[in-house]
Amino acid sequence: MSNDSGTHKLWGGRFAGGPSPLLDAINRSISTDFRLWPHDVRLSRAWALALGKAGVLTMDEAEALRSGLDRVALRIADGAQPIATDEDIHTMIDRLLHEEAGTVASKLHTGRSRNDQVATASRLWTIDACHKLDTAIRDLQQALLTQAETLTEAILPAYTHLQRAQPVSGAHWLLAHFWPLDRDRTRVANAARGTATLPLGSGAIAGSAFPVPRDLLRDELGFLAISPNSIDATGDRDFVAETMFACTMVAVHCSRIAEDLIIYGSSEFGFVKFGDGFSTGSSMMPQKRNPDVFELARGGGARVLGDLVSLLGTIKGLPSGYSKDLQDDKRALFNAIDLLHLVLPAMAGAISELRFDRTRMRAAVSSAMMATDLADYLVKKGATFREAHGAVGTLVRQAEDAGIEMTALPAEAFATAHALFGSDARDALGAEASLAARNIAGGTGPVAVAAQIELARASLTTAPRAIGSAT
Ligand code: ARG
Repeated sequence: MSNDSGTHKLWGGRFAGGPSPLLDAINRSISTDFRLWPHDVRLSRAWALALGKAGVLTMDEAEALRSGLDRVALRIADGAQPIATDEDIHTMIDRLLHEEAGTVASKLHTGRSRNDQVATASRLWTIDACHKLDTAIRDLQQALLTQAETLTEAILPAYTHLQRAQPVSGAHWLLAHFWPLDRDRTRVANAARGTATLPLGSGAIAGSAFPVPRDLLRDELGFLAISPNSIDATGDRDFVAETMFACTMVAVHCSRIAEDLIIYGSSEFGFVKFGDGFSTGSSMMPQKRNPDVFELARGGGARVLGDLVSLLGTIKGLPSGYSKDLQDDKRALFNAIDLLHLVLPAMAGAISELRFDRTRMRAAVSSAMMATDLADYLVKKGATFREAHGAVGTLVRQAEDAGIEMTALPAEAFATAHALFGSDARDALGAEASLAARNIAGGTGPVAVAAQIELARASLTTAPRAIGSAT
Protein backbone atom coordinates (compact mmCIF):
# COMPACT_ATOMS: atom_id res chain seq x y z
CA MET A 1 0.00 0.00 0.00
CA SER A 2 1.10 3.56 -0.55
CA ASN A 3 0.63 5.97 2.31
CA ASP A 4 0.07 9.68 2.36
CA SER A 5 3.72 10.61 2.28
CA GLY A 6 4.13 8.80 -1.03
CA THR A 7 6.21 5.97 0.37
CA HIS A 8 5.49 2.36 -0.48
CA LYS A 9 5.22 -0.15 2.35
CA LEU A 10 3.95 -3.70 2.59
CA TRP A 11 2.69 -3.11 6.14
CA GLY A 12 1.80 -0.29 8.51
CA GLY A 13 -1.98 0.04 8.53
CA ARG A 14 -2.27 -1.02 12.15
CA PHE A 15 0.16 1.67 13.38
CA ALA A 16 -0.95 5.18 14.15
CA GLY A 17 2.56 6.58 13.98
CA GLY A 18 5.23 6.02 11.38
CA PRO A 19 8.37 4.00 12.01
CA SER A 20 11.38 5.59 13.65
CA PRO A 21 14.32 6.24 11.35
CA LEU A 22 16.27 4.11 13.79
CA LEU A 23 13.98 1.16 13.03
CA ASP A 24 14.35 1.78 9.31
CA ALA A 25 18.12 1.77 9.66
CA ILE A 26 18.34 -1.56 11.43
CA ASN A 27 15.47 -3.18 9.52
CA ARG A 28 16.48 -2.27 5.97
CA SER A 29 17.99 -5.21 4.11
CA ILE A 30 17.85 -4.16 0.48
CA SER A 31 21.58 -3.56 0.16
CA THR A 32 22.00 -7.27 0.89
CA ASP A 33 18.93 -8.87 -0.66
CA PHE A 34 18.75 -6.77 -3.85
CA ARG A 35 20.42 -9.62 -5.73
CA LEU A 36 17.40 -11.85 -5.08
CA TRP A 37 15.39 -9.84 -7.58
CA PRO A 38 15.38 -12.24 -10.57
CA HIS A 39 14.23 -15.05 -8.31
CA ASP A 40 11.64 -12.91 -6.55
CA VAL A 41 10.21 -11.85 -9.91
CA ARG A 42 10.19 -15.44 -11.07
CA LEU A 43 8.38 -16.79 -8.02
CA SER A 44 5.91 -13.90 -8.17
CA ARG A 45 5.12 -14.75 -11.80
CA ALA A 46 4.46 -18.34 -10.75
CA TRP A 47 2.36 -17.15 -7.79
CA ALA A 48 0.22 -14.97 -10.04
CA LEU A 49 -0.40 -17.96 -12.31
CA ALA A 50 -1.24 -20.16 -9.33
CA LEU A 51 -3.69 -17.55 -7.99
CA GLY A 52 -5.31 -17.53 -11.42
CA LYS A 53 -5.56 -21.33 -11.54
CA ALA A 54 -7.04 -21.33 -8.05
CA GLY A 55 -9.72 -18.90 -9.21
CA VAL A 56 -8.55 -16.24 -6.76
CA LEU A 57 -7.68 -13.97 -9.69
CA THR A 58 -9.13 -13.94 -13.17
CA MET A 59 -6.73 -15.22 -15.77
CA ASP A 60 -6.64 -11.69 -17.22
CA GLU A 61 -5.54 -10.32 -13.86
CA ALA A 62 -2.92 -13.05 -13.55
CA GLU A 63 -1.65 -12.20 -17.01
CA ALA A 64 -1.57 -8.48 -16.21
CA LEU A 65 0.54 -9.24 -13.15
CA ARG A 66 2.86 -11.52 -15.07
CA SER A 67 3.52 -9.06 -17.86
CA GLY A 68 3.87 -6.28 -15.28
CA LEU A 69 6.51 -8.36 -13.51
CA ASP A 70 8.33 -8.84 -16.81
CA ARG A 71 8.51 -5.06 -17.20
CA VAL A 72 9.70 -4.74 -13.60
CA ALA A 73 12.48 -7.21 -14.36
CA LEU A 74 13.50 -5.20 -17.42
CA ARG A 75 13.59 -2.00 -15.39
CA ILE A 76 15.78 -3.53 -12.70
CA ALA A 77 18.04 -5.13 -15.30
CA ASP A 78 18.28 -1.65 -16.85
CA GLY A 79 19.55 -0.25 -13.58
CA ALA A 80 16.45 0.79 -11.61
CA GLN A 81 17.63 1.54 -8.09
CA PRO A 82 15.96 1.22 -4.70
CA ILE A 83 14.51 4.35 -3.13
CA ALA A 84 14.94 5.27 0.51
CA THR A 85 11.69 3.63 1.58
CA ASP A 86 12.32 0.27 -0.09
CA GLU A 87 12.77 -1.87 2.99
CA ASP A 88 13.83 -4.95 1.06
CA ILE A 89 13.79 -6.30 -2.50
CA HIS A 90 10.24 -7.62 -2.08
CA THR A 91 9.03 -4.11 -1.26
CA MET A 92 10.89 -2.60 -4.19
CA ILE A 93 9.44 -5.09 -6.66
CA ASP A 94 5.96 -4.51 -5.26
CA ARG A 95 6.44 -0.73 -5.67
CA LEU A 96 7.63 -1.09 -9.26
CA LEU A 97 4.79 -3.48 -10.03
CA HIS A 98 2.29 -0.87 -8.87
CA GLU A 99 3.93 1.58 -11.25
CA GLU A 100 3.83 -0.89 -14.12
CA ALA A 101 0.51 -2.70 -13.62
CA GLY A 102 -1.58 -0.26 -11.57
CA THR A 103 -4.04 -1.30 -8.89
CA VAL A 104 -4.14 -4.99 -9.88
CA ALA A 105 -0.64 -5.14 -8.34
CA SER A 106 -2.31 -4.96 -4.94
CA LYS A 107 -3.76 -8.43 -5.56
CA LEU A 108 -0.42 -10.23 -5.95
CA HIS A 109 0.30 -10.61 -2.26
CA THR A 110 -2.97 -12.51 -1.71
CA GLY A 111 -2.40 -15.64 0.36
CA ARG A 112 1.33 -15.24 0.66
CA SER A 113 3.73 -13.65 3.10
CA ARG A 114 7.23 -12.37 2.78
CA ASN A 115 8.09 -15.32 5.03
CA ASP A 116 7.36 -17.98 2.40
CA GLN A 117 8.41 -15.54 -0.32
CA VAL A 118 11.91 -14.87 1.00
CA ALA A 119 12.44 -18.53 1.81
CA THR A 120 11.53 -19.40 -1.79
CA ALA A 121 13.61 -16.65 -3.38
CA SER A 122 16.60 -17.59 -1.21
CA ARG A 123 16.30 -21.22 -2.22
CA LEU A 124 16.14 -20.35 -5.92
CA TRP A 125 19.21 -18.13 -5.52
CA THR A 126 21.06 -20.88 -3.64
CA ILE A 127 20.36 -23.53 -6.26
CA ASP A 128 21.68 -21.19 -8.92
CA ALA A 129 24.72 -20.39 -6.75
CA CYS A 130 25.46 -24.11 -6.35
CA HIS A 131 25.59 -24.47 -10.14
CA LYS A 132 27.99 -21.58 -10.49
CA LEU A 133 30.12 -22.88 -7.64
CA ASP A 134 30.36 -26.27 -9.33
CA THR A 135 31.81 -24.60 -12.41
CA ALA A 136 34.31 -22.53 -10.43
CA ILE A 137 35.48 -25.59 -8.49
CA ARG A 138 35.89 -27.53 -11.72
CA ASP A 139 38.02 -24.75 -13.20
CA LEU A 140 40.38 -24.96 -10.23
CA GLN A 141 40.49 -28.75 -10.54
CA GLN A 142 41.33 -28.40 -14.22
CA ALA A 143 44.26 -26.12 -13.38
CA LEU A 144 45.54 -28.68 -10.86
CA LEU A 145 45.12 -31.53 -13.31
CA THR A 146 46.87 -29.71 -16.15
CA GLN A 147 49.88 -29.06 -13.91
CA ALA A 148 49.77 -32.62 -12.55
CA GLU A 149 49.97 -33.99 -16.09
CA THR A 150 53.33 -32.23 -16.50
CA LEU A 151 54.69 -33.67 -13.26
CA THR A 152 54.26 -37.41 -13.75
CA GLU A 153 58.03 -37.88 -14.04
CA ALA A 154 58.93 -35.42 -11.26
CA ILE A 155 59.77 -36.87 -7.86
CA LEU A 156 59.62 -34.98 -4.58
CA PRO A 157 59.39 -35.86 -0.91
CA ALA A 158 55.98 -36.42 0.59
CA TYR A 159 55.83 -35.17 4.16
CA THR A 160 54.17 -36.43 7.31
CA HIS A 161 54.45 -34.12 10.33
CA LEU A 162 56.13 -31.88 7.72
CA GLN A 163 59.14 -34.23 7.98
CA ARG A 164 60.43 -35.95 4.85
CA ALA A 165 58.57 -39.24 4.66
CA GLN A 166 58.62 -41.05 1.29
CA PRO A 167 59.19 -40.06 -2.34
CA VAL A 168 56.14 -39.50 -4.52
CA SER A 169 55.51 -38.31 -8.03
CA GLY A 170 54.74 -34.62 -8.47
CA ALA A 171 51.46 -35.54 -10.13
CA HIS A 172 50.46 -37.67 -7.15
CA TRP A 173 51.10 -34.79 -4.75
CA LEU A 174 49.16 -32.26 -6.82
CA LEU A 175 46.25 -34.64 -7.37
CA ALA A 176 46.04 -35.07 -3.59
CA HIS A 177 44.47 -31.61 -3.79
CA PHE A 178 42.20 -32.53 -6.70
CA TRP A 179 40.10 -35.16 -4.93
CA PRO A 180 39.00 -33.05 -1.95
CA LEU A 181 37.55 -30.62 -4.49
CA ASP A 182 35.83 -33.54 -6.19
CA ARG A 183 34.15 -34.37 -2.88
CA ASP A 184 33.23 -30.70 -2.55
CA ARG A 185 31.39 -30.88 -5.85
CA THR A 186 29.34 -33.76 -4.47
CA ARG A 187 28.66 -31.78 -1.30
CA VAL A 188 27.56 -28.76 -3.32
CA ALA A 189 25.28 -30.97 -5.43
CA ASN A 190 23.76 -32.47 -2.28
CA ALA A 191 23.23 -28.99 -0.88
CA ALA A 192 21.41 -28.00 -4.09
CA ARG A 193 19.25 -31.09 -3.88
CA GLY A 194 18.40 -30.37 -0.24
CA THR A 195 17.52 -26.81 -1.20
CA ALA A 196 15.07 -27.83 -3.91
CA THR A 197 12.02 -28.09 -1.65
CA LEU A 198 9.32 -25.47 -2.25
CA PRO A 199 8.22 -23.29 0.72
CA LEU A 200 5.80 -21.10 -1.30
CA GLY A 201 2.21 -21.73 -0.22
CA SER A 202 3.18 -21.83 3.44
CA GLY A 203 2.04 -18.24 3.98
CA ALA A 204 3.33 -16.55 7.12
CA ILE A 205 3.33 -19.77 9.16
CA ALA A 206 0.06 -21.71 8.91
CA GLY A 207 -0.25 -22.26 5.16
CA SER A 208 -2.10 -20.19 2.57
CA ALA A 209 -5.89 -20.03 3.02
CA PHE A 210 -6.37 -20.02 -0.76
CA PRO A 211 -6.37 -23.34 -2.64
CA VAL A 212 -3.24 -22.55 -4.61
CA PRO A 213 -1.86 -25.53 -6.58
CA ARG A 214 1.54 -26.09 -4.98
CA ASP A 215 2.46 -28.82 -7.47
CA LEU A 216 2.14 -26.23 -10.23
CA LEU A 217 4.40 -23.88 -8.27
CA ARG A 218 6.90 -26.68 -7.72
CA ASP A 219 7.04 -27.49 -11.43
CA GLU A 220 7.05 -23.86 -12.61
CA LEU A 221 9.98 -23.07 -10.34
CA GLY A 222 11.91 -26.31 -10.88
CA PHE A 223 11.73 -27.57 -7.31
CA LEU A 224 11.89 -31.31 -6.62
CA ALA A 225 9.54 -31.44 -3.63
CA ILE A 226 6.91 -29.50 -1.69
CA SER A 227 7.52 -28.63 1.97
CA PRO A 228 5.31 -30.82 4.16
CA ASN A 229 4.97 -28.37 7.09
CA SER A 230 4.38 -24.64 6.82
CA ILE A 231 5.86 -23.82 10.24
CA ASP A 232 9.05 -25.66 9.35
CA ALA A 233 9.12 -24.27 5.80
CA THR A 234 9.12 -20.62 6.85
CA GLY A 235 11.71 -21.02 9.61
CA ASP A 236 13.96 -23.61 7.96
CA ARG A 237 17.43 -22.42 6.94
CA ASP A 238 19.09 -25.85 6.88
CA PHE A 239 19.70 -25.32 3.17
CA VAL A 240 21.75 -22.21 3.94
CA ALA A 241 23.75 -24.06 6.59
CA GLU A 242 24.39 -27.01 4.29
CA THR A 243 25.43 -24.82 1.40
CA MET A 244 27.69 -22.85 3.69
CA PHE A 245 29.24 -26.00 5.09
CA ALA A 246 30.01 -27.06 1.53
CA CYS A 247 31.48 -23.57 0.93
CA THR A 248 33.55 -23.87 4.07
CA MET A 249 35.00 -27.18 2.95
CA VAL A 250 35.90 -25.65 -0.43
CA ALA A 251 37.58 -22.76 1.38
CA VAL A 252 39.41 -25.12 3.72
CA HIS A 253 40.66 -27.15 0.78
CA CYS A 254 41.82 -24.02 -1.04
CA SER A 255 43.62 -22.99 2.12
CA ARG A 256 45.45 -26.32 2.31
CA ILE A 257 46.52 -26.14 -1.33
CA ALA A 258 47.71 -22.61 -0.63
CA GLU A 259 49.66 -23.70 2.41
CA ASP A 260 51.55 -26.40 0.49
CA LEU A 261 52.43 -23.94 -2.27
CA ILE A 262 53.51 -21.18 0.12
CA ILE A 263 55.88 -23.58 1.87
CA TYR A 264 57.15 -25.20 -1.33
CA GLY A 265 57.69 -21.75 -2.84
CA SER A 266 59.96 -20.58 -0.01
CA SER A 267 63.69 -20.35 -0.80
CA GLU A 268 64.29 -23.14 1.70
CA PHE A 269 62.20 -25.58 -0.34
CA GLY A 270 62.45 -23.94 -3.76
CA PHE A 271 60.22 -26.52 -5.47
CA VAL A 272 58.02 -23.96 -7.16
CA LYS A 273 58.12 -20.39 -8.45
CA PHE A 274 55.08 -18.13 -8.60
CA GLY A 275 54.24 -16.50 -11.92
CA ASP A 276 54.55 -12.75 -12.43
CA GLY A 277 50.84 -12.33 -12.95
CA PHE A 278 50.08 -13.70 -9.51
CA SER A 279 53.01 -12.44 -7.44
CA THR A 280 53.32 -9.20 -5.54
CA GLY A 281 56.42 -7.24 -4.61
CA SER A 282 57.46 -5.46 -1.45
CA SER A 283 57.49 -1.69 -1.04
CA MET A 284 60.79 -2.00 0.79
CA MET A 285 62.58 -5.19 -0.25
CA PRO A 286 63.23 -5.12 -4.02
CA GLN A 287 63.94 -8.85 -4.22
CA LYS A 288 60.54 -10.01 -2.92
CA ARG A 289 58.12 -12.16 -4.92
CA ASN A 290 55.22 -12.83 -2.60
CA PRO A 291 52.46 -15.44 -3.03
CA ASP A 292 49.66 -13.10 -1.94
CA VAL A 293 46.94 -15.00 -3.81
CA PHE A 294 47.62 -18.11 -1.79
CA GLU A 295 47.88 -16.18 1.45
CA LEU A 296 44.59 -14.42 0.76
CA ALA A 297 43.00 -17.77 -0.07
CA ARG A 298 44.26 -19.12 3.25
CA GLY A 299 42.93 -16.05 5.06
CA GLY A 300 39.64 -16.26 3.17
CA GLY A 301 39.11 -19.74 4.57
CA ALA A 302 38.85 -18.23 8.03
CA ARG A 303 36.22 -15.75 6.85
CA VAL A 304 34.02 -18.40 5.25
CA LEU A 305 34.27 -20.52 8.38
CA GLY A 306 33.28 -17.44 10.38
CA ASP A 307 30.23 -16.94 8.15
CA LEU A 308 29.15 -20.55 8.75
CA VAL A 309 29.56 -20.19 12.50
CA SER A 310 27.62 -16.93 12.52
CA LEU A 311 24.77 -18.53 10.55
CA LEU A 312 24.60 -21.54 12.88
CA GLY A 313 24.66 -19.16 15.83
CA THR A 314 21.73 -17.25 14.31
CA ILE A 315 19.63 -20.37 13.85
CA LYS A 316 20.30 -22.27 17.03
CA GLY A 317 18.22 -20.34 19.52
CA LEU A 318 15.24 -19.41 17.37
CA PRO A 319 11.70 -20.45 18.20
CA SER A 320 9.83 -22.28 15.45
CA GLY A 321 8.57 -20.20 12.54
CA TYR A 322 10.07 -17.03 11.10
CA SER A 323 11.98 -14.53 13.25
CA LYS A 324 13.66 -11.46 11.83
CA ASP A 325 17.07 -12.82 12.85
CA LEU A 326 16.72 -14.94 9.71
CA GLN A 327 17.11 -11.84 7.55
CA ASP A 328 20.84 -12.14 8.28
CA ASP A 329 21.14 -15.60 6.71
CA LYS A 330 21.65 -13.94 3.35
CA ARG A 331 24.48 -11.71 4.51
CA ALA A 332 26.44 -14.78 5.65
CA LEU A 333 25.59 -16.88 2.59
CA PHE A 334 26.35 -14.15 0.04
CA ASN A 335 29.63 -13.28 1.77
CA ALA A 336 30.77 -16.88 1.62
CA ILE A 337 29.79 -17.42 -2.01
CA ASP A 338 31.22 -14.07 -3.13
CA LEU A 339 34.52 -14.82 -1.47
CA LEU A 340 34.76 -18.21 -3.18
CA HIS A 341 34.18 -16.52 -6.53
CA LEU A 342 37.26 -14.41 -5.82
CA VAL A 343 39.38 -17.20 -4.36
CA LEU A 344 38.65 -20.04 -6.80
CA PRO A 345 39.49 -18.21 -10.07
CA ALA A 346 42.53 -16.51 -8.53
CA MET A 347 43.81 -19.87 -7.28
CA ALA A 348 43.21 -21.45 -10.69
CA GLY A 349 45.08 -18.63 -12.40
CA ALA A 350 47.98 -18.70 -9.95
CA ILE A 351 48.28 -22.48 -10.22
CA SER A 352 48.33 -22.32 -14.02
CA GLU A 353 51.32 -19.97 -13.79
CA LEU A 354 53.37 -22.07 -11.35
CA ARG A 355 56.78 -23.18 -12.55
CA PHE A 356 58.14 -26.26 -10.86
CA ASP A 357 61.83 -26.86 -10.25
CA ARG A 358 62.14 -30.59 -10.82
CA THR A 359 65.83 -30.60 -9.91
CA ARG A 360 65.19 -29.03 -6.50
CA MET A 361 62.30 -31.42 -5.91
CA ARG A 362 64.44 -34.46 -6.76
CA ALA A 363 67.39 -33.18 -4.72
CA ALA A 364 65.23 -33.05 -1.60
CA VAL A 365 64.75 -36.82 -1.78
CA SER A 366 67.41 -38.39 0.47
CA SER A 367 68.12 -42.11 0.69
CA ALA A 368 66.79 -42.34 4.25
CA MET A 369 63.36 -41.70 2.77
CA MET A 370 63.60 -45.17 1.21
CA ALA A 371 64.20 -46.80 4.60
CA THR A 372 60.75 -48.38 4.40
CA ASP A 373 61.65 -49.84 0.99
CA LEU A 374 64.81 -51.30 2.50
CA ALA A 375 62.77 -52.90 5.28
CA ASP A 376 60.32 -54.23 2.64
CA TYR A 377 63.38 -55.74 0.86
CA LEU A 378 64.18 -57.72 4.00
CA VAL A 379 60.55 -58.80 4.37
CA LYS A 380 60.62 -60.13 0.81
CA LYS A 381 63.75 -62.10 1.78
CA GLY A 382 61.90 -63.66 4.72
CA ALA A 383 62.38 -61.32 7.70
CA THR A 384 59.41 -60.12 9.75
CA PHE A 385 58.62 -56.44 9.28
CA ARG A 386 59.36 -55.66 12.96
CA GLU A 387 62.81 -57.25 12.72
CA ALA A 388 63.48 -55.51 9.38
CA HIS A 389 62.39 -52.17 10.86
CA GLY A 390 64.98 -52.58 13.65
CA ALA A 391 67.79 -53.57 11.29
CA VAL A 392 67.15 -50.66 8.92
CA GLY A 393 66.86 -48.34 11.91
CA THR A 394 70.46 -49.12 12.91
CA LEU A 395 71.60 -48.30 9.34
CA VAL A 396 69.68 -45.00 9.41
CA ARG A 397 71.43 -44.12 12.67
CA GLN A 398 74.87 -45.03 11.33
CA ALA A 399 74.38 -42.92 8.21
CA GLU A 400 73.09 -40.03 10.29
CA ASP A 401 76.03 -40.24 12.73
CA ALA A 402 78.49 -40.32 9.84
CA GLY A 403 76.65 -37.53 8.03
CA ILE A 404 76.36 -39.59 4.84
CA GLU A 405 73.60 -40.99 2.65
CA MET A 406 72.52 -44.54 3.46
CA THR A 407 73.68 -45.58 -0.01
CA ALA A 408 77.24 -44.57 1.03
CA LEU A 409 77.35 -47.01 3.95
CA PRO A 410 79.87 -49.83 3.44
CA ALA A 411 78.62 -53.30 2.50
CA GLU A 412 79.73 -54.65 5.90
CA ALA A 413 77.33 -52.29 7.63
CA PHE A 414 74.44 -53.91 5.74
CA ALA A 415 75.73 -57.42 6.41
CA THR A 416 76.09 -56.67 10.12
CA ALA A 417 72.68 -55.12 10.38
CA HIS A 418 70.92 -58.20 9.00
CA ALA A 419 72.09 -61.49 7.55
CA LEU A 420 69.47 -61.36 4.78
CA PHE A 421 70.95 -58.22 3.19
CA GLY A 422 72.48 -59.18 -0.17
CA SER A 423 74.63 -57.25 -2.64
CA ASP A 424 71.45 -55.80 -4.23
CA ALA A 425 70.33 -54.16 -0.98
CA ARG A 426 71.33 -50.65 -2.07
CA ASP A 427 69.02 -50.90 -5.10
CA ALA A 428 66.11 -50.78 -2.67
CA LEU A 429 67.25 -47.27 -1.72
CA GLY A 430 66.45 -45.80 -5.16
CA ALA A 431 63.59 -43.32 -5.38
CA GLU A 432 62.42 -44.56 -8.80
CA ALA A 433 62.32 -48.12 -7.48
CA SER A 434 60.35 -46.93 -4.48
CA LEU A 435 57.72 -45.37 -6.75
CA ALA A 436 57.67 -48.34 -9.13
CA ALA A 437 56.86 -50.65 -6.21
CA ARG A 438 53.68 -48.68 -5.54
CA ASN A 439 51.43 -49.33 -8.50
CA ILE A 440 48.69 -50.45 -6.15
CA ALA A 441 45.44 -48.60 -6.91
CA GLY A 442 45.72 -45.14 -5.34
CA GLY A 443 49.50 -45.46 -4.95
CA THR A 444 52.24 -43.24 -6.32
CA GLY A 445 53.59 -45.75 -8.89
CA PRO A 446 53.62 -44.51 -12.50
CA VAL A 447 50.95 -46.96 -13.67
CA ALA A 448 48.69 -46.12 -10.73
CA VAL A 449 49.16 -42.38 -11.25
CA ALA A 450 48.36 -42.71 -14.96
CA ALA A 451 45.11 -44.45 -13.99
CA GLN A 452 44.44 -41.75 -11.42
CA ILE A 453 44.87 -39.06 -14.06
CA GLU A 454 42.31 -40.86 -16.22
CA LEU A 455 39.87 -40.92 -13.30
CA ALA A 456 40.45 -37.22 -12.71
CA ARG A 457 39.87 -36.39 -16.37
CA ALA A 458 36.66 -38.42 -16.36
CA SER A 459 35.36 -36.67 -13.26
CA LEU A 460 35.75 -33.31 -15.00
CA THR A 461 34.05 -34.34 -18.21
CA THR A 462 30.87 -35.51 -16.52
CA ALA A 463 28.02 -33.03 -16.52
CA PRO A 464 27.87 -30.47 -13.69
CA ARG A 465 27.03 -32.41 -10.59
CA ALA A 466 24.74 -29.89 -8.92
CA ILE A 467 21.19 -31.00 -9.67
CA GLY A 468 17.82 -29.60 -8.77
CA SER A 469 18.35 -26.70 -11.13
CA ALA A 470 15.61 -24.17 -11.01
CA THR A 471 16.63 -22.68 -14.32
N1 ARG B 1 13.63 -9.01 4.35
C1 ARG B 1 13.05 -10.09 5.07
C2 ARG B 1 14.06 -11.23 5.20
O1 ARG B 1 14.98 -11.25 4.49
C3 ARG B 1 11.84 -10.58 4.39
C4 ARG B 1 10.91 -11.31 5.30
C5 ARG B 1 10.19 -10.35 6.17
N2 ARG B 1 9.24 -11.03 6.97
C6 ARG B 1 8.69 -10.44 8.03
N3 ARG B 1 7.86 -11.16 8.72
N4 ARG B 1 8.98 -9.22 8.37
O2 ARG B 1 13.93 -12.09 6.03
